[in-house]
Amino acid sequence: MNVMEAVQARHSVRSFLDRPIDPATLAELQALVAQYNAESGLRMQLMADDPAPFGGLLSKIGWLSGVRSYLALVGPDDAALDEKCGYWGEKLVLEAQARGVNSCWVGGSYKPGKCSAEVRPGERLALVVALGYGRSQGKPHKSKGYAEVTVNGEGAPDWFRRGVDCALLAPTAINQQKFKFELMDGDRVRATTDRGPFSNVDLGIARLHFELGAGKGDWQWN
Ligand SMILES: Cc1cc2nc3c(=O)[nH]c(=O)nc-3n(C[C@H](O)[C@H](O)[C@H](O)COP(=O)(O)O)c2cc1C
Repeated sequence: MNVMEAVQARHSVRSFLDRPIDPATLAELQALVAQYNAESGLRMQLMADDPAPFGGLLSKIGWLSGVRSYLALVGPDDAALDEKCGYWGEKLVLEAQARGVNSCWVGGSYKPGKCSAEVRPGERLALVVALGYGRSQGKPHKSKGYAEVTVNGEGAPDWFRRGVDCALLAPTAINQQKFKFELMDGDRVRATTDRGPFSNVDLGIARLHFELGAGKGDWQWN
């Protein structure tokens, strides 16, 4: 499965089999985490066997079960952290999906205090992504329409439409889809978000999806 196929196949999965991530797959994902950290300045950590943060009531209420592996999104505690975590975390999510590893972004349904990822002074644990083999593959979310998330989207070029369509497949906290893409002067794109829980994380995720859908070409971020 390539990354674009992974975009289509990915749905949040909250119930996982009691099966560790296959060692070869885990090694590949760990290598990608190291590479993304080097590129981004984040210090994401893939915790392969640490069920503790998902043992409590919050996870039960969130219907999360069987989580033993997760990606901890850790980085310098500045204004850019949440969006960066979304962008780089989703890169890993899609690579995991392409290898048959399911996921669920988790902002609230876990105990950060029980998380054994290292958080150094000046850093923050923004949120986590549960990873593993799902009991099911999940199902497509209800989605806003193209017109609801675009500005100047009418008559836009194909690459812009593809980018937005791909962003509409992205996970967002409580499926809020508060992001907007504005086409400016025909070749620049401004991505913004209304306020909402974890909406800057969502924005980073949506930006990555937009880039994947639009492809490289004659456009740039504003
Ligand atoms: C930033 C973020 C935080 C999330 N936090 C939680 C959470 O705490 N608990 C949960 O069950 N799902 C959580 N989700 C998953 C969303 O509910 C899910 O992505 C959304 O409903 C869309 O469904 P899909 O991922 O299947 O496309 C989160 C998603 C994102 C992007």
